[in-house]
Amino acid sequence: MRPSRDQAWETLTRYTTNEALLRHALAVEASVGYYARLYGEDEEFWRATALLHDFDYEIHPTLDKHPQDGAPILREEGYPEELIDAVLSHAEHLEIPRDTQLKKVLFACDELSGFVHACGLVRPAGLDGLEPKSVKKKLKQPSFAAGVHRDEVYEGAELLGLELDEHIANVVAAMQPIASELGLRTAADAVQE
Ligand SMILES: [Fe+2]
Ligand SMILES: [Fe+2]
Repeated sequence: MRPSRDQAWETLTRYTTNEALLRHALAVEASVGYYARLYGEDEEFWRATALLHDFDYEIHPTLDKHPQDGAPILREEGYPEELIDAVLSHAEHLEIPRDTQLKKVLFACDELSGFVHACGLVRPAGLDGLEPKSVKKKLKQPSFAAGVHRDEVYEGAELLGLELDEHIANVVAAMQPIASELGLRTAADAVQE
């Protein structure tokens, strides 16, 4: 079966109630979907994969289980191996080769979407007007969003063959339309204050 985005959302929300995790899934979905469109790929399939990449994190919050113990669940639910393999490949510790464009994009968007989200949360206008250079400045401050692995952000841009500035600009543009779902303010909110 070719999974739909809504089906993936249904699976995700059956296993995940934590709001931060759901927002992370939506942010990565938006970024991966943006690249699917940019590259002329199967956007629905890429979105479904992105939504599910951490679907088991709430039930498997440690790396001895996540994401590998989630794979049999996805298989049971009828998701294709192509999706499951891409989901597994986002985890560094499994050392699965990132040999498809989807795997590269998923890896490249995972940490950066979280980081851009954190940048948006501390700005009155959220993501509006957020420039790559200020994101890069914050990447160099180890205490800001300390949980985000910087090396994976840099590695991701490299994997896509993009300048970091361009990759950041793409992820910001991808997440902007869903800012309110991500709990972010917008320029319009900032004006009203
Ligand atoms: Fe993960
Ligand atoms: Fe993730």
